[in-house]
Amino acid sequence: MDRELNGAMRSVSINSAQQNGHSRDETDRVGVANGGNVSASCAAAAAAQATKATNATSATGTATATNATTNSPSAQQIALASAAEKKKMVHELCQQLLLSDEQVQELCYRILHELRRGLAKDTHPKANVKCFVTYVQDLPNGNERGKFLALDLGGTNFRVLLIHLQENNDFQMESRIYAIPQHIMIGSGTQLFDHIAECLSNFMAEHNVYAERLPLGFTFSFPLRQLGLTKGLLETWTKGFNCAGVVNEDVVQLLKDAIARRGDVQIDVCAILNDTTGTLMSCAWKNHNCKIGLIVGTGANACYMERVEEAELFTAEDPRKKHVLINTEWGAFGDNGALDFVRTEFDRDIDVHSINPGKQTFEKMISGMYMGELVRLVLVKMTQAGILFNGQDSEVLNTRGLFFTKYVSEIEADEPGNFTNCRLVLEELGLTNATDGDCANVRYICECVSKRAAHLVSAGIATLINKMDEPHVTVGVDGSVYRFHPKFHNLMVEKIATLIKPGITFDLMLSEDGSGRGAALVAAVACREDILYAKK
Ligand code: BGC
Repeated sequence: MDRELNGAMRSVSINSAQQNGHSRDETDRVGVANGGNVSASCAAAAAAQATKATNATSATGTATATNATTNSPSAQQIALASAAEKKKMVHELCQQLLLSDEQVQELCYRILHELRRGLAKDTHPKANVKCFVTYVQDLPNGNERGKFLALDLGGTNFRVLLIHLQENNDFQMESRIYAIPQHIMIGSGTQLFDHIAECLSNFMAEHNVYAERLPLGFTFSFPLRQLGLTKGLLETWTKGFNCAGVVNEDVVQLLKDAIARRGDVQIDVCAILNDTTGTLMSCAWKNHNCKIGLIVGTGANACYMERVEEAELFTAEDPRKKHVLINTEWGAFGDNGALDFVRTEFDRDIDVHSINPGKQTFEKMISGMYMGELVRLVLVKMTQAGILFNGQDSEVLNTRGLFFTKYVSEIEADEPGNFTNCRLVLEELGLTNATDGDCANVRYICECVSKRAAHLVSAGIATLINKMDEPHVTVGVDGSVYRFHPKFHNLMVEKIATLIKPGITFDLMLSEDGSGRGAALVAAVACREDILYAKK
């Protein structure tokens, strides 16, 4: 065993040396053709996992005897299997969802490599992880004051907020959630921005600021090629949005145009920002060590404070400012095959049936938009093989998108051995004949999917912490998965601790409404700068 492990470590380090030596003009496709990049141990482990998975689940409904060549149990054998044997089959199939320490380490090397490609001028055009410059260079200093409007588009809901920043890190906030109907999410850009402007106007009327001209921060949580603090071109839609005519357009201008078309309200757009930026700013208002912002919600992404000289696409205007915030857009990590060595049949299924196949590979293995569906796909496979629920499925179980990610959190919130939430969820799915053994297996599947997500995020965060190389970093975190999953925080803390350089310490801080208050803070810091410059 030890020898195997040593061998694995050796191959990982050889591989990392190769990775570090990658020239900048390498092709942007890795994976099949570049199979040599995958450490031998990872490849062997993946192959072993694939074989195990096939063995555990290749039973068909018609076979009656063990298949001599594959050793797969027949349907009849599965039907007669004891609870302990079924548990073993479930665990074997789930092997492919577990990441070994070597695989996580390998992921760190690959993420670092992709970050560097995004930051460097000559590789940026082809890079998957774009590392967009946000133009935010100043963290809040606690002196920001005033009344601000904020728009928050990009999570499950669209929100309008009115935030009053006050003395002593105090603030008042009023907000309202507006639905974005499905037909608008995939309709035209004009429809989307008209809808946003209408909600803004209604909100201003309801909150007695209709006639005021207030500064506004726009949290727009999609990959944005920023050209300044108030100018950003949409690179691509993610998370179920696909509005025509917005890609490559300046989103701030589209908002201004929609407001002008109405002609009733007036606003000053002071900043456009990503939700990760808002999250970081919101935490940094109280904690100046906060230098990373992370979202694990409907989507997944992180931003971090980078040294100006590393951000080759940023033209610094003020030589006194040594850092700039980078929006990594790491959800697209793996779009070139860099994650193929850990992807499973379930990940490929999610991708093929998504609105954006081939894109946001990392995000699809992590975020709330996909986590429930990943679990559902595993459940369907095991049920069809007769391992779960005595082979009895249900219409809801077989329908895409109906196993909600919140179910994963609910199921894992049950005390070990207690299946109260699990049974409630299964009832909602129309599965009423579950045994305790089935419930334990369902829970295990949820644990494998969520643990993998937490470990993938940890690889990303540890890579950023190591790259920043500061003695202590606070990571500001938000998003429904992180907030509501009972173990996500602990899983991350444990994993990151094993991956960062000795001597560095870190903590994870839950952000208080980053997308709302963070937007006000970015706008406030921008105003603070404007006032400073005006005074000069
Ligand atoms: C978007 C990011 C965003 C993340 C979290 C991703 O799909 O591309 O811009 O930060 O979701 O909301």
